[in-house]
Amino acid sequence: MSDVIVIAGKGGTGKTTVSALITLMLAKRRAGAVLAVDADPNSNLSDALGLSEVGTIADIIEEVARSPETVPQSMGKDSFIEYKIHNDISENDGFDLLVMGRPEGPGCYCYINNVLRNVMAKLISEYGFSVIDNEAGLEHFSRKTTRAAGELIVVSDESQVGLRSAERIIALIDELGIAAKKRFLVVNRQQTPLDPQTVKTKFAVDDVFMVPFDKEVLDLSSKGSPLSGLSESSKARLAIEAMGDRIWPKN
Ligand SMILES: Nc1ncnc2c1ncn2[C@@H]1O[C@H](COP(=O)(O)OP(=O)(O)OP(=O)(O)O)[C@@H](O)[C@H]1O
Ligand SMILES: [Mg+2]
Repeated sequence: MSDVIVIAGKGGTGKTTVSALITLMLAKRRAGAVLAVDADPNSNLSDALGLSEVGTIADIIEEVARSPETVPQSMGKDSFIEYKIHNDISENDGFDLLVMGRPEGPGCYCYINNVLRNVMAKLISEYGFSVIDNEAGLEHFSRKTTRAAGELIVVSDESQVGLRSAERIIALIDELGIAAKKRFLVVNRQQTPLDPQTVKTKFAVDDVFMVPFDKEVLDLSSKGSPLSGLSESSKARLAIEAMGDRIWPKN
């Protein structure tokens, strides 16, 4: 069974960092194949995971829409797109990465998007875990990919404004009818003590996790270096590993 983990939250709260740390944590555990999906067109999940020159799904869609003649007749569009996507996935030590990108040119992508949806669903089902780094704005929250969400993780900073915004996102998730088996709140870059129990009661979530401010994270990201470079004692990394033990207990 494939476990889909969707990361959401206001811009700049740490979605990409949390997505990358969860991916690395799950990869290290080797409890199942891990697929990281960068679903944010402005994102940098590939940098956080230390991969460059990653092809995007948008490029594939673009190519097929612009030059349908590139599709081999013997193959048909569906299989061709599927083949190209498989080809574009970058395989790494313990996890694979898929970057959605942003389709540009004009034209109707309805047909291709439909194909994409099916291909994505099939692809995700091939992995034990899929970690989806979502866009900040929930307007674009893809019901299609999130419909099957096992865990929805909303990332917030520790400010009152930040927490209120996370609360709105959680409410919006209900309004949009996005089903997730479990919902969690991650208070990231935490510096002042905050009682998880109080926060948990206030928010309608299954659990709350604190990820401390970690200078190591900031130093790596400002150098553009991957988070795999965090030390064994990195506070953020340890917090995500402890969170992993609670959400996905080892048996
Ligand atoms: N626990 C942490 N400790 C220190 N710095 C952090 C921590 N988490 C994230 N950061 C830093 O905060 C910044 C924003 O993080 P990140 O890019 O993960 O946020 P985001 O929500 O994905 O942003 P965007 O909405 O732009 O995609 C980055 O510089 C990152 O290195
Ligand atoms: Mg991001």
